[in-house]
Amino acid sequence: MAEIGNNIQKAKSLLDRGELVGLPTETVYGLAGNALNTEAVSKIFEVKNRPYFDPLILHTHSIDAIKLYTENIPEEAIELAHKFWPGPLTILLKRNNKVPDLTCSGLDRAAFRIPNHPVALELLQNLDYPLAAPSANPFGYISPTSAVHVQNQLGDKIQYILNGEVSNVGIESTIVGFDKDQPVVYRLGGLDVNEIESIIGKVKVMEHSSSQPDAPGMLKSHYAPRKKIILGNIEELLIQCKGLNIGVLSFHKEYSEADLSYILSEKQDMHEAAKNLFSYLRLLDESSVDIILTELVPNTGLGKAINDRLKRASI
Ligand code: TXA
Ligand code: MG
Repeated sequence: MAEIGNNIQKAKSLLDRGELVGLPTETVYGLAGNALNTEAVSKIFEVKNRPYFDPLILHTHSIDAIKLYTENIPEEAIELAHKFWPGPLTILLKRNNKVPDLTCSGLDRAAFRIPNHPVALELLQNLDYPLAAPSANPFGYISPTSAVHVQNQLGDKIQYILNGEVSNVGIESTIVGFDKDQPVVYRLGGLDVNEIESIIGKVKVMEHSSSQPDAPGMLKSHYAPRKKIILGNIEELLIQCKGLNIGVLSFHKEYSEADLSYILSEKQDMHEAAKNLFSYLRLLDESSVDIILTELVPNTGLGKAINDRLKRASI
């Protein structure tokens, strides 16, 4: 099993040797390795059982560090970076050849993010390379929002997990890129698209597709628990599923007919709902219920990203 601890130097020395470390961030926990070391990067793909065509995000502690690996950063990207970094935003930028092909699956652009987490930032400041860090879950499973989640899923494959409390945002970063000059959101996430639009104006939001995804995180079934999960009107579904052992994940209402139920946010707060989403899905998935019933939340602000995850989990 992996050790869970607060020892930045220990994490650094493992990373310097090309090993992987569990990394807390404000969105979800990452499985981190030296982004410039192809052996470390291939370990990430192996440990996650992730296809090599699905590129990784590079994490750094500063815009200056990112400039070492990129060219022609668009003005709007700089504006977003100044406004939202450190934070739950990933920006796709034209990369130079210091970034190994393996890290970004041979694409011309690489994904960059400065996470807003004191432990992650302290570690990154101590390194002279960026960290490639996908969410620390086996490919296709729910992203982890605590060190214990990482331990349960990947603890036998890595040695060390840095502890950083429960991830505050709870869903992955919003991914933005520039298609010619047009800003495009490739993945809805922890930064509300309205906030992005308040800085750079209207952006295009890509619909996810199951073939030829521009950001493979857009593969339709990507956040699926192992149990069957049905999205719809919970009241009606409860009647249809009578006789089964039923788990419910609701937005704010209590459903007493359920055998096990979790409420995302009684006060209907989208930030709280996002923070609870993956850990509640995980608890339901690990419970003895036969089936999980859930519903969409209002499609405003972070609700859009929550609904995106719920839709994919229920396919
Ligand atoms: O919040 C997050 O973004 C977390 C934390 C750990 O930072 N990381 C994360 O990584 O969610 P991952 O690997 O689970 O998702 C990254 C997504 C993938 O869907 C990938 O396809 C997309 O980013 N991506 C990465 N590099 C890309 C590139 N060069 N072009 C297009 N999409 C890219
Ligand atoms: Mg992921």
